[in-house]
Amino acid sequence: MFNSFQFIVFSIILFIIPQSASGCYTSIFVLGDSLSDNGNLLGFSAPKIIHQGRPPNGETYFHHPTGRCCDGRLIIDFLAQSFGLPIPPPYVGIKKANNTDVHAGVNFAVAGARALDTAFYDDIGIIDPVTNDTLRVQLDWFKELLPSICGSKADCGNQLKTSLVVVGPFGGNDYRYALFQGTSMEERKLLAHLITNAVVSAVNELIELGVGTVMVPGLVPDGCLAVSLTYFGGSNMDIYDPSTGCIIWLNEFAEYHNGLLQMKLNMARERNPSATIIYADYYNAIMQLYHNPKKYGFRKTNAACCGDGGPYNYNKGVQCGDPPTTVCPDPSLYINWDGPHFTEAANRWVTSALLKGPYTIPHIDASCISEVASSRKFTKA
Ligand SMILES: *[C@@H]1O[C@H](CO)[C@@H](O)[C@H](O)[C@H]1NC(C)=O
Ligand SMILES: *[C@@H]1O[C@H](CO)[C@@H](O)[C@H](O)[C@H]1NC(C)=O
Repeated sequence: MFNSFQFIVFSIILFIIPQSASGCYTSIFVLGDSLSDNGNLLGFSAPKIIHQGRPPNGETYFHHPTGRCCDGRLIIDFLAQSFGLPIPPPYVGIKKANNTDVHAGVNFAVAGARALDTAFYDDIGIIDPVTNDTLRVQLDWFKELLPSICGSKADCGNQLKTSLVVVGPFGGNDYRYALFQGTSMEERKLLAHLITNAVVSAVNELIELGVGTVMVPGLVPDGCLAVSLTYFGGSNMDIYDPSTGCIIWLNEFAEYHNGLLQMKLNMARERNPSATIIYADYYNAIMQLYHNPKKYGFRKTNAACCGDGGPYNYNKGVQCGDPPTTVCPDPSLYINWDGPHFTEAANRWVTSALLKGPYTIPHIDASCISEVASSRKFTKA
């Protein structure tokens, strides 16, 4: 499928070839949702324990639940380690106790977060049952914390030059809640314009504060996730891509969003020639796993490792960690952890593909990578 819109997007990408990313990072800050949250929603929910605060979450790497929706590390954790930086501490610890060193980075991502403001959704009647800590709220936290991170405005300008800020992926929750609460495809396409605008204006704002490198991940292939397959699957085989088992219309929508996002990032690059804006193509990196699971050591593709039965081991009413969910014996054989999220094994592979493969635009400078994320050989497919 190659429609005229995609053609325009690709032409723009080809003609505005961004300069190669250069310089290494002294700190990493993260804004995002559950694909990047390493403890905030759990911390903000305390003393109530939510499902990601219960085993088996965390079992593979941390050996206890951390608030990540994962058995181990997330892509942003691997990215930080690959750049030789500590895993950025969740913001909640700083907000609640103010005893954490913030100089090497902070993770502001909150599971369930949307890109657009709560007030906007209140007006059109679409609620987020999980959190109101949107992109805007997280960006404000970052700005409030700047005096602790780097002191005066001039010092900040210098220090943030060598910072990497990861913005996203954002949009997954906007679309999911909009879809569940009865919007049409046309309405979601309108949302896509607003969401990508919000992401790109956050990028511009960060650069105005002095941030040297912003990485913006695109949406993941939603149609491959156990949660989506459970909600939107059915007996009509025409909706599935026969080679991957993923739902075509959901993946096409993610690609639509990612096309818009990349087009707008190109405009942001023109506007900010001295900053580096990296598009991280989570979508195509992850699709490699669905296209060639065996090649990369995965045995289970669409079903979740942690869940409560059904064709995709996902039960709409019960999240991983809540009884009676059970966990697979070897999560490293699974791409999908709990329905909407990926296993540490998949995250590790994707990070390696981002760092070494063709999935960052412009490419991350190899000299910035101090540690190889993957124990599984990454081969360009
Ligand atoms: C955290 O504490 C330091 C002093 O220990 C103070 O300068 C700073 O303003 C505090 N930050 C926040 C966000 O409360
Ligand atoms: C989000 O904000 C709305 C008001 O705008 C409130 O009714 C709702 O309870 C909040 N949701 C959460 C999860 O905090």
